[in-house]
Amino acid sequence: MFKAKTITKDIYYIGVNDRQKINFENQIPLPYGVSYNSYVIMDEKIALIDTVEIPFAEIFIDKLLQVLQGRSVDYLVINHMEPDHSGSIRAIRRLFPEVKIIGNNRTFKMLAGYYGIEDGLLEVTDGTTLSLGKHQLQFFLTPMIHWPETMMTYDATDKAIFTGDAFGAFGALDGGVIDSDLMINKYMDEFDRYFSNIAGKYGSPVQKALEKMSTIEVTFICPTHGPVWKDHIASIIEKTNRLSRYEGEKGVVIVYASMYGNTEQMAEAIAEGLSEAGEKKIMIYDVAKTDASFILTDIFRYDRLVLGSPTYNNGLFPEMASFLLKIENRDIKHRKFAYFGSSTWSNATTRIFSAFAEKMKWEVIGTPVEEQQSLKQNAYEACIALGKELASV
Ligand code: FEO
Repeated sequence: MFKAKTITKDIYYIGVNDRQKINFENQIPLPYGVSYNSYVIMDEKIALIDTVEIPFAEIFIDKLLQVLQGRSVDYLVINHMEPDHSGSIRAIRRLFPEVKIIGNNRTFKMLAGYYGIEDGLLEVTDGTTLSLGKHQLQFFLTPMIHWPETMMTYDATDKAIFTGDAFGAFGALDGGVIDSDLMINKYMDEFDRYFSNIAGKYGSPVQKALEKMSTIEVTFICPTHGPVWKDHIASIIEKTNRLSRYEGEKGVVIVYASMYGNTEQMAEAIAEGLSEAGEKKIMIYDVAKTDASFILTDIFRYDRLVLGSPTYNNGLFPEMASFLLKIENRDIKHRKFAYFGSSTWSNATTRIFSAFAEKMKWEVIGTPVEEQQSLKQNAYEACIALGKELASV
């Protein structure tokens, strides 16, 4: 019923939209859904590139059969083994018992472990080529984006590169598949959120992959999530390059926790100081209200970060403590950092933020502000001063 879509004369998109999943990886909200992308290259030999998560196998296989017109799949290329893409491998093998599964040695260990498949494999190494007839494929090993087996497949004939999760975006595909056929702003934001939360920790492997890609000519970037990139290739490569070097553009993200609004007032005062000093890009988030995936995206985007929390059971407010773990988990580098905290009888927050800054190797800006009970004039002035100092770096 649903149609496969043409990318080039021989390359078809046969992916699916998932608008039902609430949280990606059971942790990251999907307000616009997500797509699981799969592609077929039709030639003398037929190659299927990646599959989809298992609940969507029926729609996926239906599209595949339309494209095949009675022929069989010769090769199944596995660029990434995570189950949102490998989920339908067993179904494909059942349908086409002769299909050769292409991956690298790390792929095959996971393939055996997840699906018990150990035969009919074709192992590739970095640079291996494979002719489908007219289309010449080349495989690039790009480990740790964001799993160890991740690789990319380049179709030198149509200049299309199948990149796995690299260059992926959240957001189900609204009608079209190629960026030029979509309302692109939403996907650009979801591209940043996807990168920050999924691949953000792996800046150095991403840089290595970009270096490999710089040697080839690319007309289409075909990732496993989100739009196929054609018109915005330069801009997504530039974004990926900047984000993976942890180079924030100018801007300040203030993230606070507050139980009764007193710590929140300190955040407001710091923002006031920033604004008085001419800073315009100021983003303020209540860590207990906005999902961490959105806040992390802005922390990747901008160069300065301020964290504040009340003292809670002699530690940080729990949502802030959990947020620090999420930052640490992404290993966000090179941030200029300031912090503040409050308490009613004994302050623990500034000690914890100070140790966190040290662990992250961040540069601390200004004098941290501490207040007890409600915000009073001296601490207010100190927050204004901290804001002004942050604006000056
Ligand atoms: Fe979309 Fe890493 O799986």
